[in-house]
Amino acid sequence: MTIPTVPTPATLDAFWMPFTANRRFKAHPRLLARAQGMHYWTDDGRQILDGIAGLWCVNAGHARPEITEAVSRQLATLDYAPTFQMGHPQAFELANRLVELVPGDLDHVFFTNSGSESVDTALKIAIAYHRSRGEAARTRLIGREKGYHGVGFGGISVGGIVNNRKFFGSLLPGVDHLSHTLDIEHNAYSRGQPEWGVHLADELERLVALHDASTIAAVIVEPIAGSAGVILPPKGYLQRLRSICDRHGILLIFDEVITGFGRLGTPFGAHYFDVVPDMITSAKGLTNGAVPMGAVFVRKSIYDAFMHAPEDAIELFHGYTYSAHPAACAAALATLEIYRREGLLTRAADLSRIWEDAVHSLRGLPHVIDVRNLGLVAGIELQPRSSAPGTRAYDVFVAAFEKGVLIRTTGDIIALSPPLIIEPVQIDQLVTTLADILRATP
Ligand SMILES: Cc1ncc(COP(=O)(O)O)c(C=O)c1O
Repeated sequence: MTIPTVPTPATLDAFWMPFTANRRFKAHPRLLARAQGMHYWTDDGRQILDGIAGLWCVNAGHARPEITEAVSRQLATLDYAPTFQMGHPQAFELANRLVELVPGDLDHVFFTNSGSESVDTALKIAIAYHRSRGEAARTRLIGREKGYHGVGFGGISVGGIVNNRKFFGSLLPGVDHLSHTLDIEHNAYSRGQPEWGVHLADELERLVALHDASTIAAVIVEPIAGSAGVILPPKGYLQRLRSICDRHGILLIFDEVITGFGRLGTPFGAHYFDVVPDMITSAKGLTNGAVPMGAVFVRKSIYDAFMHAPEDAIELFHGYTYSAHPAACAAALATLEIYRREGLLTRAADLSRIWEDAVHSLRGLPHVIDVRNLGLVAGIELQPRSSAPGTRAYDVFVAAFEKGVLIRTTGDIIALSPPLIIEPVQIDQLVTTLADILRATP
């Protein structure tokens, strides 16, 4: 069945949409029919400025012909190849290219198909790593309140968004959470990293005292928490987490599914914050969103710890049918070439001052209680309606779409993360449209 020009609830019924109010959407659908550069076009031909890079993934802008051609060439040459006890050249080429982009000695990469799989892979590697070194009791995992690490059971266990957890049973055992670092009372309208809150990292010492370091495998945090509404690390916070982890032999995992590939004006958030974690999880910008793919970067010492088994032994009993899928490798190689040629992994640094000034111009408008920003990311927090939290930001989202701008909301927070090719005039359009809508929103 094809979707008619005017979709009806019946023609939209079969697709159970993710993270969506299905019945409300299907009664008033918003359908995107094509995309190019900074824009989408709806099925009825309206142009929409993309303020969120699709879903934080289309960093080089939409429909890049280099990626399309590379993927179609690859599918015509080698459509699929297993990577279990087999290989294909693009997988190795991509791994070599990628490890040049990450800091420190994270010189090995494990391929997945999504951010969720990257997270679960990293958590499994952490536990197996300690076991391979004779520390099999190190199985505890520590995440953070308001953290988002995808939707696998590992990811929701270390994640800290209540609705993503409460429906799904008891989750993984042996997981603890640090406090989140959002504090509007102390840090409202911070430009860049907030001043207040470095002490929140010391909670890790408290958890070590409670459980003993010998039971803790890893700590996982997003350098910037995106999905919960753009929560920034206070100055010194990530450094302090790093030094506590070092003191106790705990692995530090940065979930860079959002901050990876140029979002902060550096290739990875680890560069921006000058902290080298033991693993980095990534996805999204890796292929510019064109083909699903994720990657976990692993320190040399972690990889090496698995290489002591007899040479004919499989070192890690983990992997996906589509790990390093040829089409995904082709998309990623073409994407990296665009990033290199156009300097996109550092472009956010050039734009960040204009971006910061633009989003902070929303301060003082009706309902705005905080604006926070870093790189090409911003969060604008609105005062919730007392009887109906979340509805104000949702109304702004719908109005923005009607006025030709795509934004994202979580609760009453508006999140912005445009493609890294955005021009100042488009930043202006995004923010001016939002300002008009905020003035008109009850
Ligand atoms: C920090 C982080 N981790 C993991 C994920 C999950 O990625 P995916 O939806 O590709 O599974 C996301 C998605 O937004 C994310 O932001």
